[in-house]
Amino acid sequence: MTGDEIRQRFLDYFEKNGHKVVHSSPLLPANDPTLLFTNAGMNQFKDVFLGLEKRDYKRAVSSQKCIRAGGKHNDLDEVGKTARHHTFFEMLGNFSFGDYFKEDAIRYAWEFLVDDLKLDRRRLWFSVFEGDDEVGPDDEARELWVRVGAPPERVLGFGRIDNFWQMGDTGPCGPCSEIHYYMGEDPDDPTKNTAELVNGPGDTTMEIWNLVFMQYNRTESEDGTYTLTPLPAPSVDTGMGLERITAVMQNVKTNYDTDLIRPLVEYAAALSEPSA
Ligand code: GLY
Repeated sequence: MTGDEIRQRFLDYFEKNGHKVVHSSPLLPANDPTLLFTNAGMNQFKDVFLGLEKRDYKRAVSSQKCIRAGGKHNDLDEVGKTARHHTFFEMLGNFSFGDYFKEDAIRYAWEFLVDDLKLDRRRLWFSVFEGDDEVGPDDEARELWVRVGAPPERVLGFGRIDNFWQMGDTGPCGPCSEIHYYMGEDPDDPTKNTAELVNGPGDTTMEIWNLVFMQYNRTESEDGTYTLTPLPAPSVDTGMGLERITAVMQNVKTNYDTDLIRPLVEYAAALSEPSA
């Protein structure tokens, strides 16, 4: 399946499930001084999550062009060191604005990956927020993953860095739940396909999709302290790297080897060949 076909498959799946297909917004966010570049699919919906703007739909799906080269989400230092980071990428996302919440977000993600794309479920791992002083553990997400079919030992708890998502220092945020995929050999070998590789070293097990359960707005007061206040309605914001899921589907070792990026590398290589 080509990267273009995977993008279309995602949009079609969520459209079939009642989501409005929305175009990618520009890389330069409109009217948001907190961001230099668009860094996530949810940026164009920020005011909808905050209850400041109403749209004529409560569910949306998009493939958003993103740049992560500075600010809260900065991949610049990883480029060239990992198989999965590049500062420009496309983020596939489904969104609920006070409509469905955790249960359907998790069910849709499972159904899309396992039933629609037919990913090998032996290779899937899941993470949930284990809680901290400010926000409690997300036991509900853990139970929901098990209910849709994840083995309990494949659902791991992590802290704020990995499992609490916010677009910047301020703005909509919430605990999140990630899906990781083991790309190595022999998924049945418990010494290879291990929990330690989830958010661990190397690229063998890679995060492919993040489901954010948008519940709070983080604001900064004049004395520089931050406060979490509940959003008008619990919402959903997800982000799956198109290049990452394409690497999985095309069974290649790096995002650079997918049909989305490889032609660019080859073109640049041809241009840089010394002339005879
Ligand atoms: N907004 C979801 C993500 O960027 O992971």
